[in-house]
Amino acid sequence: MELSESALAEQSLLQSLPLRCATPAAWARAALKDPDALLNDHAHLEKKAASNALELLCRWPDAQPPSGWLRALTSIAAEEAEHLRIVSGLLLQRGHPMARHHRNEYAGKLHSSIRRGEGRKELADRMYVAGLIEARSCERFILLAREAQDELADLYRDFLGSEVGHFHAFFRMARQIHEDRTDEWLDLEAAVVSELDFFPGILSGFRGL
Ligand SMILES: [Fe+2]
Ligand SMILES: [Fe+2]
Repeated sequence: MELSESALAEQSLLQSLPLRCATPAAWARAALKDPDALLNDHAHLEKKAASNALELLCRWPDAQPPSGWLRALTSIAAEEAEHLRIVSGLLLQRGHPMARHHRNEYAGKLHSSIRRGEGRKELADRMYVAGLIEARSCERFILLAREAQDELADLYRDFLGSEVGHFHAFFRMARQIHEDRTDEWLDLEAAVVSELDFFPGILSGFRGL
């Protein structure tokens, strides 16, 4: 069967992500069995992404922020807030408010490897973690877009471009701040994601599926 132009673009985006542990398609099929829980989790991740970009804004390591720092982070924060508006709106249309609580074991495990109290190293690590979350989200959106129907397929497809842009921006800023630790972080992320259990959430694991 011949692939459409958008399917080919998604395939090439998927292949361009440097992730070292691939999520199986079965994960997306399982996640889409509870679309409301998936959307609720997604809304919380967008909220966290917006607030994290704002939180990073004033953490630059020197008297002057690196070139493009404010522009990159304020753009990311604005785009994530818009994503939150869209996802939470969709959730409301489907009759559900955002739940008050949210768990994110994946991000928690990545955060535990940040070199805290080490100045530029800590900040670079925070950027790597933010970039990895974006890259893994991109992978998941592609898998979900392939398996979903109607408005959900459109939603995941619509977010892809901006999330891949965020991934590149965070990794670029990480390398600007401190030595390149990309390789180490990619290995660490692959180990983290392969040990997580499944639940209907964008950054859940696929163990036990
Ligand atoms: Fe987003
Ligand atoms: Fe993002």
